[in-house]
Parts: sequence; structure tokens; C-alpha cells
Amino acid sequence: MIKCEQPSEIRSLVRRWQLDGLRVAFVPTMGNLHAGHFSLVELARRHADRVVTSVFVNPTQFGPNEDFARYPRTIERDAVGLEAVGSDAMFVPEPHALYPMGAANAVRVEVPPIDRILCGAHRPGHFSGVATVVLRLLHCVPADCAVFGSKDYQQLQIIRRLVQDLLMPVELIAGATCREPDGLAMSSRNQYLLPDERELAPLLFAKLRSVASAVQMGQPVGAVLSNAQAELTRVGFSVDYIEVREAETLADWYPDARRGVALVAARIGNTRLIDNLEFVLTED
Ligand code: PAJ
Repeated sequence: MIKCEQPSEIRSLVRRWQLDGLRVAFVPTMGNLHAGHFSLVELARRHADRVVTSVFVNPTQFGPNEDFARYPRTIERDAVGLEAVGSDAMFVPEPHALYPMGAANAVRVEVPPIDRILCGAHRPGHFSGVATVVLRLLHCVPADCAVFGSKDYQQLQIIRRLVQDLLMPVELIAGATCREPDGLAMSSRNQYLLPDERELAPLLFAKLRSVASAVQMGQPVGAVLSNAQAELTRVGFSVDYIEVREAETLADWYPDARRGVALVAARIGNTRLIDNLEFVLTED
């Protein structure tokens, strides 16, 4: 596996491959890689001849009281895992390489209106930071396609809009969420959970499943959601939101909507977890 730190190095490697007629896929990450990330690299391999994975803990997407400083950095282990799963190159820029003017003075992009809702309402500036770094990463890695996980559902929809609205010549591919056997979505943050918190955590996905099937059976969405929120709170979650939205736009659910997504963000102790579940209403 080729390792590059400089944007110019990775860009010329990608261009060289493309001139040879090879299709290149890109998988951006913040490292501390787990099976969910590796599944995206495998998916990328099925869509392209060469795969580039980036590892960069992006300062502009963390709020002042968030876990940027203590975000786990396991670069050596990540490199071994990426090599094993077949990533051809790893892009590991230093912050000043991606933010030449410094993170505080960076040119930023926003993706209205969907960067303001749901997680965006609870983490001001977060999605602007994500869009800002994805734009920069795609300038460095001018791949034919880029792979993102559905685990971060709102992020995925925001990046879709970013690419569409800025006319970026890259195809987006969504990867399914990898879960632990008990249903908990894999996440770098799961390692912060204390044993009793870890035991509680799979309830989030269980609740999303019951919310989605209640909506599919025609139960009133407002009541379904307030019951779900009350129950999660009763067992010890601090719920930022649990919502049902139209799947593509994340607009409020409406009577004629067909494709939906149930989304949750909740804290257990100090750890904030998110999850989602897509569903379809069939004609009856
Ligand atoms: P990170 O949290 O490292 O996630 C990198 C990619 O892995 C994202 O596309 C995310 O949706 C996906 N992912 C995370 N957990 C997953 C799981 N359990 N199953 C499948 N895919 C999963 O998301 C980010 O980094 C950053 O915001 C980034 C896009 C890299 C910009 O900094």
C-alpha cells in the first residue's frame, strides 16, 4: 500500500491511474478503523480498480466541547487493516496540508437547509465542517467514485447535495451499516461505553425497528415517536431526537410519503450515539 501525506502526491498518483484507464474509488475516514470502515473499502473495491482511503481527524467538524483532542488515533493499526482489506493507497495529510490558512481561517461551505436540522441543530457547524473537509479531500483525491456509510445518514444526504450543487464529477456510493450481533451499529465511540452502558446501547436500534414498523402499520407518527422517546429516557438515555423523516430530503414525514427513515441521536453517560433505519411504505 502506498502512503501519501501531500495532496500533490496523492493527486498525481490518482491521475496516473486514471490515465492508464483505471477507475479509482475513494473512502474518506477519521481512522480508528473497524469492520464498518473496512466494509466500505471492500465495497469500493467492487466498484473500482484502485482504492484510496484517507485517515484524517478533521478539526473543523468538532465543536468546542467535543472529543477532537481525545478522538482515538491508531494510525499504525489502521494501516495494517487497510492493507489487509486491499486499499491500494492511504492518504494521511497533516492539518496544515488540508487547511493551509489554518482551520480557524478556512474557507467553509454550508449545505442549507439540511445541515441545520437533526444532528445539525444539536452540533452547530458540524456539517459545515464535514462538507468543508470532504470538498478539500475530493480536490486532493479526484476519484471517479467515493463511498460513504449509511450509518451517518444525514451526513450522506448532505454530501449528496454538496456534490450535486457544486457540480462535482464524482459518483457517490452508499454502504450499509455494519452492526454488532446484538444490533448496535459499529462506531469508534462504542469503545467509550462502560459495561452497563454497552448493555443498554442496542436498545436504540431495537427502538428504531419498532418505530419503523409502527409507521408502516399506519400508526400515528407523533404518538409513536413520543412513546419511543419516553421509553428511551426511562431506561437511561438522554435523547437529542428520535424522528421519522422522508428518506431523501429529510423533510418532516407527510401522509403521502413512501420512503422513510427513522433516525435517533441519544447520549448514554458521556457518549453520544446515532443510528437510523430506512423503510418503505407499500401500497395496500
Ligand atoms: P468516520 O466516522 O471515520 O466514518 C468514515 C466512514 O465510515 C463514513 O462514511 C461513515 O458513515 C462510515 N461508517 C462508520 N460506521 C459505520 C458502520 N458501522 N457501518 C458502515 N459504515 C460506517 O464520517 C466520518 O468519518 C467523517 O465525517 C468524514 C466523512 C471522514 C469527514 O471527516
